[in-house]
Amino acid sequence: MTTKVAAYPFQIQSFEQYKIVYEESIKYPEKFWATVATNFQWKKPWDKVLEWNFKEPKVEWFQGAELNITENCLDRHLEKLGDKPAIIWEPNNPNESIRTFTYTQLFQQVCLFAQVLQNNGVKKGDRVCIYMGMIPELTIAILACARIGAIHSVIFGGFSAQSIADRVNDAQSTFVITCDGAFRGGKDIALKAVIDEALNENQFVKKIIVYSRTKISVSMKNGRDVWWDNEMKIATDQFKKKETNYFPAATMDAEDPLFILYTSGSTGKPKGVVHTCAGYMVWVTYTFVNVFQYQPKQIHFCTADIGWVTGHSYIIYGPLCAGATSLMFEGIPTWPNAGRFWDIIDKHQVNIFYTAPTAIRSLMGFGLEPLKEKNLSSLKILGTVGEPINEEAWHWYDENIGKKKCPIVDTWWQTETGGTMISNMAGITPSKPSWATLPMPGVELLLVDENGKEVSEKDEHGMLKGNLCIKSPWPGMLRTTYGDHERCRKNYFSTYENLYFTGDGALKDENGFFRITGRVDDVLNVSGHRIGTAEVENAINRHLGVVESAVVGYPHEIKGQGIYAFVVYNGNQLNEKETRNDIVLVVNKIIGSFAKPNKIQFVLGLPKTRSGKIMRRILRKIAMGEVENLGDISTLLEPSVVAAIAKGRI
Ligand code: PRX
Repeated sequence: MTTKVAAYPFQIQSFEQYKIVYEESIKYPEKFWATVATNFQWKKPWDKVLEWNFKEPKVEWFQGAELNITENCLDRHLEKLGDKPAIIWEPNNPNESIRTFTYTQLFQQVCLFAQVLQNNGVKKGDRVCIYMGMIPELTIAILACARIGAIHSVIFGGFSAQSIADRVNDAQSTFVITCDGAFRGGKDIALKAVIDEALNENQFVKKIIVYSRTKISVSMKNGRDVWWDNEMKIATDQFKKKETNYFPAATMDAEDPLFILYTSGSTGKPKGVVHTCAGYMVWVTYTFVNVFQYQPKQIHFCTADIGWVTGHSYIIYGPLCAGATSLMFEGIPTWPNAGRFWDIIDKHQVNIFYTAPTAIRSLMGFGLEPLKEKNLSSLKILGTVGEPINEEAWHWYDENIGKKKCPIVDTWWQTETGGTMISNMAGITPSKPSWATLPMPGVELLLVDENGKEVSEKDEHGMLKGNLCIKSPWPGMLRTTYGDHERCRKNYFSTYENLYFTGDGALKDENGFFRITGRVDDVLNVSGHRIGTAEVENAINRHLGVVESAVVGYPHEIKGQGIYAFVVYNGNQLNEKETRNDIVLVVNKIIGSFAKPNKIQFVLGLPKTRSGKIMRRILRKIAMGEVENLGDISTLLEPSVVAAIAKGRI
């Protein structure tokens, strides 16, 4: 069923059209999304487009429909786009060969690996943990899970054994797909060894499938661990015998879970955000095609890691559903030198380049030398994601990478939203440096004050300022947090009645443009990585000498935010340097090195209210260097600790 209805174009063509479409999408969401959804392949059409309430919350899109997202990513393109590159893979080491998978080749690999999964006992609904480097097999593994209806839970390669164990246990994953190791810049990272440590006490994981990437020696547990290549050979023989290269795509209900992705919140325990099949597919494809104004033949390069939501949505599902060519990069921007991204753009004639502000700021630091003799003229569109982009970085990106010819899309969204919620559409709607600008069709935003009342008073610059909420459902929104629906309700739907609360603060200007100012909860954004302060505190507190700790963010020139830890230590003889190193090691071990504190200050006590609550507001100010004007401290249990902390600031 692939009929196109002209009433709402799948790809918006002008600002005027955006305004009309936006208005219609809010007035008639069911009609609007039903029309958009006709651009996909369904096994069975829906009975009802939308049913929802934010109280429980219950959100169901395309009720009663059946589909498989991989038929939309792969099968339906085979006839016309079979020979078109679906994935171009650029290895970490620029001297190693590029690998390209056409849509036909990717389809075949996914079918084979789906067979491998089935041979190893994976069934629809099983949770499969994937912990791999950025290699094509990661994409194949993800799509093969989706093909047989298993729920993938990808864990970022930077997470430690303890973090993996927590996530595997929470999702009750019974299968793991990993690599011997991963290459990242000059480093070889041992992934299988980390998995072994993570699963040391695990009784439930039945099989671990290991792809050999770095060829380091690994231990393989008899009966549990199998090699990817051997299993693929077995599947190939089976296919040959059956004279087929086809693995049937499982029939999925629109609301069957597609994947779980863990993300940090205000509490110490990460949440397993659950996305479902149909709504997520429609949302990521629609936003991909519109935000980037994707044109056939363009090459899209999203630099995110597939371990985070950006990689899920805009390396894999969005581009592939749209029949695009997606470039996947194994390495890091500064290895073997700081011109690596520009080399890749030049070499592959990249048209759309989508990266994080932290990467731009870090590359800015190397000056213009790495750009010399790099031909970036293929670029048409630039994008940013993950954190607010400061104006200086925006202009550097615009002038030196886009040569002032490429629209920059500043895309605001979250793991929970599945895809972009606020962004300009490249060349179609206006842009404004460091403003995400306008909501996508179907996204109804609201700024509220502390009490949930819509803000109406403008500040001295004519702006509205408040906490960013969303009023009604969009197809790509999270449906639950795995295994704990009440947690989902509490986290997102209970702060303000009948609203989804994003956790972000925002400004709105006279044109209705939005600027995201950052998190208003206890969540940090370090180099675009989302980290809960409570998670870091829990890790620091595992150090035997630590009595308690409080973690806050402070502005960091490259990372956006840095982590500042105030630590109360019980040792009599404190060797500060050694203890700092030890604490960093503990955080590396419990979470991963990306969460390590940048500054650790030892203090005698933390500023607490009489009820024992840590006054983070004061610590935040001290971390930012505002030691003079700390506000009212009279309600503190021991106001004197504040002066001592301010004095000892690093
Ligand atoms: O604070 C916002 C920030 O990143 C948070 C979401 O993080 P995560 O779930 O890891 O997803 C990141 C990739 C989508 C948001 O709550 N954020 C994301 N994009 C922007 C942003 N802040 C400002 N501008 C953005 N474009």
